[in-house]
Amino acid sequence: MRILVIGSGGREHALAWKIRQSGKCEKLFSAPGNGGMSESAELVNIQADDIKGLLKFAKDNNIGLTVVGPEVPLVAGIVDAFRKEGLAAFGPSGELARLEGSKVFAKEAMKRFGVPTADFMVFDKAEEALAYLDTRQAPVVVKADGLCAGKGVVVARSIDEAKTAVKKMMVERIYGSAGDKVIIEDCLSGEEASILVISDGKNVVPLASSQDHKRVFDGDRGPNTGGMGAYSPAPAVTDEIFKKIMDSVIYPMINGLAKEGKPYKGVLYAGIMLTQDGPKTLEFNVRFGDPETQAILPRLRNDLVDLMEKAVTGELEHYRLDWDPRPCVTIVMASGGYPGEFQKGMEIEGLRDVKNMRDVMVFHAGTKLGSRASDTRGLYITNGGRVLNVTALGSDIKGAIDNCYAAVKKISFGKMHYRKDIGYRAMKV
Ligand code: AMP
Ligand code: GLY
Repeated sequence: MRILVIGSGGREHALAWKIRQSGKCEKLFSAPGNGGMSESAELVNIQADDIKGLLKFAKDNNIGLTVVGPEVPLVAGIVDAFRKEGLAAFGPSGELARLEGSKVFAKEAMKRFGVPTADFMVFDKAEEALAYLDTRQAPVVVKADGLCAGKGVVVARSIDEAKTAVKKMMVERIYGSAGDKVIIEDCLSGEEASILVISDGKNVVPLASSQDHKRVFDGDRGPNTGGMGAYSPAPAVTDEIFKKIMDSVIYPMINGLAKEGKPYKGVLYAGIMLTQDGPKTLEFNVRFGDPETQAILPRLRNDLVDLMEKAVTGELEHYRLDWDPRPCVTIVMASGGYPGEFQKGMEIEGLRDVKNMRDVMVFHAGTKLGSRASDTRGLYITNGGRVLNVTALGSDIKGAIDNCYAAVKKISFGKMHYRKDIGYRAMKV
């Protein structure tokens, strides 16, 4: 089968790497892909949100399965557009992608299905949201309804900070229409974990648990990023807690949507806070996590293409996954300055030195082939904030962390930044 992976991050490189291992994959394309992905896929110069262009490419090139990485095309209805033309695309419909595309839609679904989450109120007028904040005590969480590239959540330590967030979202409209509505909700505390499952609309196949590190600096300080590292499994998610999350969050959502005549197909990613009162849902994403996927897929022994195909065709009953028991850790090497301003175009050195390290994989994110690539094979330059995901398995979590940093230390580029403490929470458990 000919397969297309849409997107250009580390997540997509990990998906492409795993898809290439499938006996079902004859040829792999990636749109638009990144430098490193050119080793496992043919890059196609079409952007991830160009649904018309992608559809035309898939039709013209006899693509049997399309795998959508990022949320934007999913929310824009790419799976519906492909399905209409008889093409298989892995992911939810545009309507159900609103579980990520509209936090109000997600909260209302959780309420209908009795899924534990923070108590909340929805506002579509700034004055009412501000007046409500006068009745609240900090901390409190303010969320813009729509997609904000991961920036739409403010955990406010004071009521003034919460009011400022409401004004920015609803009056200054810094996120445009994404701030037409805001949610004000209780602040939860505890450890966070990511639970990803694959569903065919009826049946659910859980992936291994994981945790990511969102803050840019060691000790979970500094601004939020897309993620600076991750590991799987998450030791905080014991078997008992995992079962509780499946029973209280995942099954009620999948079954509830099915009962409403809207079967959810694709990956459902629940961001969970492990509170003292049990697991509560922070958010849903309708796609694979980044960088969680980079730490999960190296542990998966099954054929990912088969799994995704069966999710599309509704054949996941009794499907069981087989996992490498060894933990996996991924460390993001980023451009200095990220998530703020940063420079691109730095030459990356040392990639060849890690190529043959056992149980080490490097998934590229913001890279492209450099101009000297033709005479120096494999020369890449930086082309984004998050540049590489250096990933390693180990016999235990410490072993995986050590293997990962041993590889990271061999790689360098100008002004690089990476956290030195990825996995520290897992070591404490
Ligand atoms: P979300 O996009 O809803 O997951 O929010 C992004 C991040 O904000 C989460 O990963 C949490 O760290 C934090 N967050 C979201 N909602 C809450 C909440 N109710 N209480 C505390 N932290 C939250
Ligand atoms: N790692 C967080 C996310 O993928 O949303």
